[in-house]
Amino acid sequence: MDSEKPPFRRSQAWFGRQDRDGFVHRSWIKNQGYPHDLLDGRPIIGICNTWSELTPCNGHFRELAEFVKRGVYEAGGFPLEFPVMSLGETQLRPTAMLFRNLASMDVEESIRGNPIDGVVLLMGCDKTTPSLMMGAASCDLPTIGLSGGPMLNGKFRGKDVGSGTGVWQMSEMVRAGEMTMAEFSSCESDMHRSSGTCMTMGTASTMASMVEALGMALPENAAIPAADTRRKRLAQLTGRRIVEMVKQDIKMSQILTRQAFENAIRTNAAIGGSTNAVIHLLAIAGRIGVDLKLEDFDKLGSEVNNILNLQPSGKYLMEDFCYAGGLPAVMREILPMLHGDALTVNGKTIRENVANAPCYNRDVIKTVDDPFMPAAGIAVVRGNLAPNGAVIKPSAASKHLLQHRGPAVVFESIEEFHAKIDDPDLDIDENSVMVLKNCGPRGYPGMAEVGNMPLPPKVLKKGITDMVRISDARMSGTAYGTTVLHTSPEAAAGGPLAVVQNGDMIELNVPERKLHLEISDEELARRLALWKSPEKPKRGWYKLYVETVQQAHLGADLDFLVGGSGAAVPRDSH
Ligand code: FES
Ligand code: MG
Repeated sequence: MDSEKPPFRRSQAWFGRQDRDGFVHRSWIKNQGYPHDLLDGRPIIGICNTWSELTPCNGHFRELAEFVKRGVYEAGGFPLEFPVMSLGETQLRPTAMLFRNLASMDVEESIRGNPIDGVVLLMGCDKTTPSLMMGAASCDLPTIGLSGGPMLNGKFRGKDVGSGTGVWQMSEMVRAGEMTMAEFSSCESDMHRSSGTCMTMGTASTMASMVEALGMALPENAAIPAADTRRKRLAQLTGRRIVEMVKQDIKMSQILTRQAFENAIRTNAAIGGSTNAVIHLLAIAGRIGVDLKLEDFDKLGSEVNNILNLQPSGKYLMEDFCYAGGLPAVMREILPMLHGDALTVNGKTIRENVANAPCYNRDVIKTVDDPFMPAAGIAVVRGNLAPNGAVIKPSAASKHLLQHRGPAVVFESIEEFHAKIDDPDLDIDENSVMVLKNCGPRGYPGMAEVGNMPLPPKVLKKGITDMVRISDARMSGTAYGTTVLHTSPEAAAGGPLAVVQNGDMIELNVPERKLHLEISDEELARRLALWKSPEKPKRGWYKLYVETVQQAHLGADLDFLVGGSGAAVPRDSH
């Protein structure tokens, strides 16, 4: 590098000017007590914070940000923390997913419009990870991810109990008459007893793992619990590292290559990760210009063995995963299947990061030769019921139902489902195929996590715990069951799912990747011609969303948000 000429810093377009506007930019920032020399051209690091008390999983992020700042200062940078829209999975209605793309716009414009040279993304609860990754990718500055970490293991009556997964299990026990409501409620304070995200391999832990597998976070990002002081240390190291990344000008697009996404897909299969990763990875890839298709998840992931014995598919929880060695130990095990040369944010390759990663518990992290579940990655099924595909997670399904033929029991909405499912006169048994419509991106709107419909009590009482379920909805990453999800096109977009009727025979054949509605092409065309689009929202975000959201097989981003605009310095504000 030419030592005579200091490197251009984007932030100097604000703070480096000797004119009226330079005065404005510097003087107002100084009202927070910063000395003048912090504006001398050192890297300015934006800390993009999704802290919110309404996003309980990210409730500890103000403290975490302080440790990032320590690291930034140590490395000679100047940290400036800023808030963005935070999406809390457990509180937001109708579903946090409705706002993922909105939050990503907030992130993108907050980064581009401000004097920032590099960004640290503080991510935790499910949608906060993809929204920040998507928004930052559309700017493509040097960027590093830091996840908030999972909660400590839930402990109920002396036993481990997992976020979400335990709720689904126990609520089914209540419905089957095996547990009282009072017993169920008494678990509320026991399941979630520390800061952090769901401690099962739900969507938050899956996405934290994806960030690490993509090379976008420092090693061990995924599994260190929020309450473990090593999380703070990781935050400090992340702060140090982003300053170096700015100096080395390592942009997001150099990390997020096609190879990185292939690594993420394979890793997701190896950890038994959430089906939500499909939609989020497709959307992130779309922003950074990587050609990724729904089919890639099946091609690259479905033959990969699941080697992680974690709920919802297995037994253990994220705290156990951390103590067993965390994600580096998993990636070491599948390293021959990965692109080892892929660059990561610490400047090293995936191979360099994980080649010697130790495993301390082989019951938690299994080996490829002795897996927890063979060939258990996400499968993509197609047929006249889902011409653009639908997904199923075989590791969360019942083996005997992966090939199944049965009559449809149709619910036009989730409200209709709730109103009917407990009715003893409902014509349904364990061979039926439950079909739920109008829960896709446009239909709900926002593609709610309702695809794992609870079973009817009369089936539960026989001791049966799984049935085939099909919908255009998503499913919580903490859920399980033989659930075909994300059917595309969705019902509300006039997909064939919209015209399934009670009693129609449906065939699911996962080994053959088939999802077939057994009616003639003529009958299907006749029914579709009679179909009427549901009423659309008239104003505001809902209207913009429903009019522009893409279908699930494309990642459910808004059509006009796909791609990026870089981070050129915008025009003067005064
Ligand atoms: Fe926030 Fe599970 S609800 S991570
Ligand atoms: Mg979830």
